[in-house]
Amino acid sequence: MTHFDEAGLTEEAIRSFDGTANPRLRGLLQDLVRTLHDYVRRTGLTFEEWSGAIDVLTRIGQTCTPARQEFILLSDVLGVSMMVDAVNHREREGATETTVLGPFYVGRHPSLPHGSDISEGLSGEPLFVAVRVADLAGKPVQDARVDVWHADNEGFYDSQKPGYASQGPSLRARFATDADGRLFFRTVLPCSYPIPMDGPVGELIRASARHPMRPAHIHFLVEAPGHDALITHVFIDGDPYLRSDVVFGVKEELIAKVERRTEATLPDGTPVDRPWHLMTYEFRLKPGSGLAPQPMMAAAVMTSDG
Ligand code: BEZ
Ligand code: FE
Repeated sequence: MTHFDEAGLTEEAIRSFDGTANPRLRGLLQDLVRTLHDYVRRTGLTFEEWSGAIDVLTRIGQTCTPARQEFILLSDVLGVSMMVDAVNHREREGATETTVLGPFYVGRHPSLPHGSDISEGLSGEPLFVAVRVADLAGKPVQDARVDVWHADNEGFYDSQKPGYASQGPSLRARFATDADGRLFFRTVLPCSYPIPMDGPVGELIRASARHPMRPAHIHFLVEAPGHDALITHVFIDGDPYLRSDVVFGVKEELIAKVERRTEATLPDGTPVDRPWHLMTYEFRLKPGSGLAPQPMMAAAVMTSDG
């Protein structure tokens, strides 16, 4: 038969993928066809709407460069990235919650000693960060590799600034935990910031009258042999956008109280001439392969290479 009714068309399009050798790929493609056909039927999608969607997707593709991944941003604002995170981390068993990697991970963080100031030359309120990495029983994890990165006090990552290629990294570093599973570093207090709004995803956010903000946070990627890699953020309590993160990335246990302090020295003895802030957090790692989810990491490196 060559003239299909609506139901017959769906079944025929699904059947056309029957020969896909990889069973997982076959299942994903056939489910996608069924879901898309259902969507078109349920909404009664018009030709105009269909070509509008094609136009948006085309422009999203055209906006992608080695330094920018607009498709991941689309996935983020639709809540798809966090849904993938959710279905892949259903059983935490006490391990720290995960969240989006985000597009500003560059994968080449300079290794620095404990206590380093990762905000050299930048203005902002001083922040001392002390974290501990432990297993599910609370035992310290030594030599965990911990990448940290965050936005400055105006909401920009180093890789968004014009001088990034020549000036090198700032507000990002790699540390290794000591025998107690601890590490500490100095930086400036990050603030909430908008996702990139100058492309098609920004248009979509504006058209839906959503705000573009992410609440202030520091990103952590913790990797240690024998444990699942942990991709997460620590959010700063009190931020006005904690309940409405544009990418749905906030989880209650990732919100840390950041204390305002007035002592004249930081916990590592460094003198300080202004009030400062203290962030402390303990990460719990799940036993596992020790590998970070590779395709995601590769995508992230692609996004931020410029
Ligand atoms: C970020 O936290 O860096 C981020 C995450 C998702 C979209 C945009 C930015
Ligand atoms: Fe971020």
